[in-house]
Amino acid sequence: MKVLAFNCSPKMDKGSTALILTPFLEGMRGPGAEVELLYTKKLKINPCQGCFNCWLKTPGKCFQDDDMNMLYPKLHEADIWVFATPVYVDGVSGPMKNLIDRMIPLLQPFFELRDGHCRHVVRQGHKYGKVVLVSNCGFWEMDNFDPLLAHMKAFCRNGAKEFRGALLRPHGEALRPMMEMGAPVNDILEAAKEAGRQLVTEGEMSAETQATVSRELMPLEMYVQVANQGFQQALDALEKK
Ligand SMILES: Cc1cc2nc3c(=O)[nH]c(=O)nc-3n(C[C@H](O)[C@H](O)[C@H](O)COP(=O)(O)O)c2cc1C
Repeated sequence: MKVLAFNCSPKMDKGSTALILTPFLEGMRGPGAEVELLYTKKLKINPCQGCFNCWLKTPGKCFQDDDMNMLYPKLHEADIWVFATPVYVDGVSGPMKNLIDRMIPLLQPFFELRDGHCRHVVRQGHKYGKVVLVSNCGFWEMDNFDPLLAHMKAFCRNGAKEFRGALLRPHGEALRPMMEMGAPVNDILEAAKEAGRQLVTEGEMSAETQATVSRELMPLEMYVQVANQGFQQALDALEKK
């Protein structure tokens, strides 16, 4: 089984997204999945120019000469796509949006009706694979992921992919400092790993495992207080400079 994962945080391995993504991918490698992890920050992926050349002039091929050319065969071959992104202004990060916009050559321009809904016909060689979202955000509540979930589900319906769920880490900014302080958060990392194992061996991640990844780190009021203290300290330090 081939897994193609994208870390779409500009902070790459130093970010909070990676804290969940890393054990998740490790969990997939355990039972033998062949996992390739790519960082959008290291890739040159220009924005889509909206010309539709990839549909009507050079079918299946974008005119832009960048890293997407190397990615198209990998995208075709992979059984599972993992998109890992922080929440940016209630959506996916800009590099991730560029990446998925540039995936339209995987489809054909023709319309067809799938489940009574207008969709594009998929291009030959396209696999009806699975998609998983890994995300974290700065705000406390789970509903901050609603726009991303709606987007990923729609992306999968349009692209004939199977959305297999999400590992979501609300108030994700608190996870790293808590780990550094030795707080008991290992269950979250273990659950992310277990989710990877489950996805490869059972085809899906259990609701319980996903819930553990998202579990509360601290009460809402405390999080607001701790975050504001941190912001104030940073601003006070500026004044002292
Ligand atoms: C430009 C920008 C926009 C953001 N927008 C949101 C947002 O809409 N909702 C939210 O909860 N957090 C938001 N955040 C916070 C990030 O999701 C949070 O810092 C996350 O932990 C970053 O993950 P990373 O360390 O992997 O990059 C935003 C951060 C940035 C830099």
